[in-house]
Amino acid sequence: MGYKVAVVGATGNVGREILSILAERGFPADEVVALASRRSQGVEVSFGDKTLKVKNLETYDFSDTDICLMSAGGAVSKEWSPKIGAAGCVVIDNSSQWRMDPDVPLIVPEVNADAITGFAKKNIIANPNCSTAQLVVALKPLHDAATIKRVVVSTYQSVSGAGKDAMDELFTQTRAVFVSDPVEPKKFPKRIAFNLIPQIDVFMDDGFTKEEWKMVAETKKILDPKIKLTATCVRVPVFISHSEAVNVEFENELSAEDARKILREAPGILVIDTREPGGYATPHEAAGEDATYISRLRDDPTVDNGIAFWCVSDNLRKGAALNAVQIAEVLVNRKLITSRRKAA
Ligand SMILES: NC(=O)c1ccc[n+]([C@@H]2O[C@H](COP(=O)([O-])OP(=O)(O)OC[C@H]3O[C@@H](n4cnc5c(N)ncnc54)[C@H](OP(=O)(O)O)[C@@H]3O)[C@@H](O)[C@H]2O)c1
Repeated sequence: MGYKVAVVGATGNVGREILSILAERGFPADEVVALASRRSQGVEVSFGDKTLKVKNLETYDFSDTDICLMSAGGAVSKEWSPKIGAAGCVVIDNSSQWRMDPDVPLIVPEVNADAITGFAKKNIIANPNCSTAQLVVALKPLHDAATIKRVVVSTYQSVSGAGKDAMDELFTQTRAVFVSDPVEPKKFPKRIAFNLIPQIDVFMDDGFTKEEWKMVAETKKILDPKIKLTATCVRVPVFISHSEAVNVEFENELSAEDARKILREAPGILVIDTREPGGYATPHEAAGEDATYISRLRDDPTVDNGIAFWCVSDNLRKGAALNAVQIAEVLVNRKLITSRRKAA
């Protein structure tokens, strides 16, 4: 008997992607349940070639569900994840609510799958922020080779990272510009159509935004607390895929050529870098794909051992849904959970 899996937030950007990735990868579930708020009860969502009717999270009984893939925001996770975990179902959460909790593993399977072992303390496992996930996939093999001292990253983050309403806002504003209607910012603090916004999440006391802080704190937790990282996070008028311009300084010697060879062999990465017009990955090509794409690899002559590169990935997949399903696969492949209905 396979596993029973619940997807909370099944009507959202990430939830829909989780359902399609579970089907694509043939996850060993013999029942998948779609959950969302009361508003969406009865709505149909796709799961492979089937459709599932969405049920109400508030009235769902988790007692025979093995894994809950949760992507309904921090407030819902804060209330529900501990209850679901206490009912014996392992929660894999996409929000930022539990990421820095010392009793909750923060996992990117290509990077720190072994850290999953402590999950049973709360029965909650956290998925990192989308911009952190793709970055650590690229940094891990480089850190293993030459020990990273410092990272400077600027992000170019798509609107889908802010949910389905944010995608609608880019569409509506773009249309409004073309037909000379008034452009009203609702979800974003300024107009996003034909613009850039150098603020993602709220401001902190030190002038960084919370998104920038998350990249620092999560990279330390996942990869190495000794790595110094500074980030500038920018929202751009792209629907899907986050891009990052990254400068890395190492303790030991590592050339861009060495990095290219290492990254070509690394899990989850595709190097596209032919140093000619178009010989690099863009958000458009990364959308719908699983890989973290690396392009524009070059030496950084302003530091002793430094390189620069461009990193692009689908934020709804590696940045959220794919990573969550890969965590579920680690639980299953390492036999860290058993089907509760089979055990009964
Ligand atoms: N988008 C990304 O790139 C990304 C990356 C990493 C992490 N995340 C995180 O993933 C989560 C979801 O993001 P998203 O982009 O998918 O957002 P979204 O498109 O706005 O979808 C939100 C989902 O949450 C559900 N929901 C809201 N309130 C609920 C409640 N009270 N009870 C049950 N379900 C409720 C919604 O259901 P209704 O339709 O019924 O309202 C919807 O299914 C967030 O925590 C986000 O920070 C997103």
